[in-house]
Amino acid sequence: APNPAADDEGRPIGYGRLQRKEDPRFVRGRGHYVDDITLPGMLHGAILRSPVAHARLVSIDTTAALAHPGVVAVITGADLLGLGLAWAPTLSADVQAVLVTDKVRFQGQEVAFVVAEDRYAARDALELIEVDYDVLPPVVDARKALDADAPVVRDEMEGRTDNHIFDWEAGNKAETDAVFAAADVVVSQEIVYPRSHPAPMETCGAVADFDAVTGKLTLYETSQAPHAHRTLFAMVAGIPEHKIRIVSPDIGGGFGNKVGIYPGYILAVVGSIVTGKPVKWMEDRSENLMSTSFARDYIMQGEIAATKDGRILAVRTKVLADHGAFNATAQPTKYPAGFFHIFTGSYDLQAAHCSVTGVYTNKAPGGVAYACSFRVTEAVYLVERLVDILAAKLEMDPAELRLKNLIKPEQFPYPNKTGWEYDSGDYERALRLSMKMAGYDDLRREQQAKRDRGELMGIGISFFTETVGAGPRKHMDIVGLGMNDGAELRVHPTGKAVVRISVQSQGQGHETTFAQIVAEEIGIPPEDIDVVHGDTDQTPFGLGTYGSRSTPVSGAAVALVARKVREKARFIAAAMLETRPEDLEWEKGRWFVKGDPSVGKTIAEIAMGAYGTVALPEGIDGNLDAEVTYDPPNLTFPFGAYICVVDVDPGTGHVTVRRFVAVDDCGTRINPMIIEGQVHGGLTDGVGMALMQFIEFDESGNNLGGSFMDYLIPTAMEVPDWETGYTVTPSPHHPIGAKGIGESATVGSPPAIVNAVVDALAPFGITHMDMPCTPARVWAAIQGRPRPP
Ligand code: CDP
Repeated sequence: APNPAADDEGRPIGYGRLQRKEDPRFVRGRGHYVDDITLPGMLHGAILRSPVAHARLVSIDTTAALAHPGVVAVITGADLLGLGLAWAPTLSADVQAVLVTDKVRFQGQEVAFVVAEDRYAARDALELIEVDYDVLPPVVDARKALDADAPVVRDEMEGRTDNHIFDWEAGNKAETDAVFAAADVVVSQEIVYPRSHPAPMETCGAVADFDAVTGKLTLYETSQAPHAHRTLFAMVAGIPEHKIRIVSPDIGGGFGNKVGIYPGYILAVVGSIVTGKPVKWMEDRSENLMSTSFARDYIMQGEIAATKDGRILAVRTKVLADHGAFNATAQPTKYPAGFFHIFTGSYDLQAAHCSVTGVYTNKAPGGVAYACSFRVTEAVYLVERLVDILAAKLEMDPAELRLKNLIKPEQFPYPNKTGWEYDSGDYERALRLSMKMAGYDDLRREQQAKRDRGELMGIGISFFTETVGAGPRKHMDIVGLGMNDGAELRVHPTGKAVVRISVQSQGQGHETTFAQIVAEEIGIPPEDIDVVHGDTDQTPFGLGTYGSRSTPVSGAAVALVARKVREKARFIAAAMLETRPEDLEWEKGRWFVKGDPSVGKTIAEIAMGAYGTVALPEGIDGNLDAEVTYDPPNLTFPFGAYICVVDVDPGTGHVTVRRFVAVDDCGTRINPMIIEGQVHGGLTDGVGMALMQFIEFDESGNNLGGSFMDYLIPTAMEVPDWETGYTVTPSPHHPIGAKGIGESATVGSPPAIVNAVVDALAPFGITHMDMPCTPARVWAAIQGRPRPP
């Protein structure tokens, strides 16, 4: 008998290693990005940026720039003040200057906007704007931001005399202090997660097209969250929401960099309103690195308490969070430190407590989740470094220490000490699998033999639990918008379908995997299902893609909308077969009569019936469509066990990542090939963060990482052949049991790499090293010299 769960050629449908539907257009250069958009009469914008980090704006003279050939308009902060657009709300209940009106607060801040007939004229005219700055001393080091004599970054705010933004805590302090006081062993360490940058291949940009006759604004934007942006634009610009269309075409990587609304987007809109023409603004690489959202920048004082035989009891930490000049971090409103309170990790603790203090400094704003779910990266790095430092202190093997303390499968759903409920897990299985794949015991023997010869080899483990899929509306919103997602599914008369989703792919392959989910649920082959996303006029409302939330939230919406269509199809099939709906049974792609499988209707036949002349039952209308909005009951908690092997050259301090084993568990796996691709990318990011990249500032607030000459991007040269494995522990509350995977590897790999480097350096008595472990830093550590920058 033909397999109903297959298409006409007998191929299976649903989950599996399906090649990506989007790749034919990407590999042939047919992707369509914001900078590919050219509209009739389009003008080009360019932003003048401040060369200094902190200065009063004395005057701006735009006369010469306006006289430059091709220049159509020059917009300053004073112009925006007149329009009420000089300041825009951030995603964290603060405001950010669109153009400077009073003073500059970070190097690279937006000072003026030139609109010209081409991009060269616009950029040339920037040089003709004369700005008089009265330079002020900056506050660059977050540790000094709360000093009594620190310059006040945000003195425009009424009554503000310091740089303090917020204090936030989670867990129980008294309980935790009591456990620490009674513990046999306590280790402490200051652990810094340096400022880094998502640095997507495509920088940020927009094309704004305001039609003065219809009052409609069409904005093509590099956005990870088109619907949320539309609502914010309606609120900021005063244009009614139904008159705004946001289009996010192909996006060349986001990684958190394209969540916020940058001044450049707003300036493109203002430029279009002022000139009556479409205006394109595309930033260059240095603008992206210097002015758009950075990530991390957490100074963490961590402590871990244990019994002398290695039972971990509690973790506590005090964090100083550098938020730059404007509090523009992106996370659910209730959680100013994001999901940092998952720093309890994967261990069964008696108590935990964290407190986080956010401060302003004269640096670019941001604090976005660079390929992670709202600070889970910082949290995992903290706890996984502390566990290794504890292992060194107890002279225990770090794998053994972890195995002894991991939460056990029967403890799920596991309520941790800071308010999370981990949905499901089998941690020991994942760690044991990674050890087996790595040949852990052999590696330790090899290491010992090398140590005896004076060679430096390190083995680093990290075990992580992520918290992804924000989130339940009763706990989570961003600027008041509940973090839910919609999905709409239409099956056309011939049985081909289109599913419209509210998340926005930036390269993760949603056009493939979301079609696979529908295929699995209603039995139409994935190639017959078109996935529409990234256009607010074409898709249902939802909060977009970041924090690996697409599969946990939108993927669930898609599964449910397909089930709704399937249920509707049952009634139509019953009418077609002249039987009762309850007498039908489902097998992939087909409703058939219980006890008589030869009598049935496929989804395609039912679709034709729905749109055709079949007499429909009461309450069923003549289509095969459905829509849902999904409110997740909880987040999903993917996890993984990573083992990294490094060799360190004692002469140069150079670290080579020789092997890397990554075992991930993201519940039900939709497309294993895409999952592996996501993991490979995240692991590569991790090598960048752990060994190569950070954004430093000098004492004047000059950004020293403003180009790819200084901010290093890992390539195939720096990474090994990744060895990936998996376990499958489905999420009990997700309709198909899937958890997110997009960011697991970025979260889990930096601690594994740093743990390996520190392990290699153990013969020198080294127990901690701050990222990035550059050759200069490693060499200095070996030599017992002070750490270079
Ligand atoms: O939100 P984002 O798309 O960045 O992250 P994600 O939800 O973790 O998904 C990344 C990609 O992996 C998507 O194409 C997913 O559909 C796919 N995926 C999968 O095939 N199976 C899973 N269990 C999770 C994700």
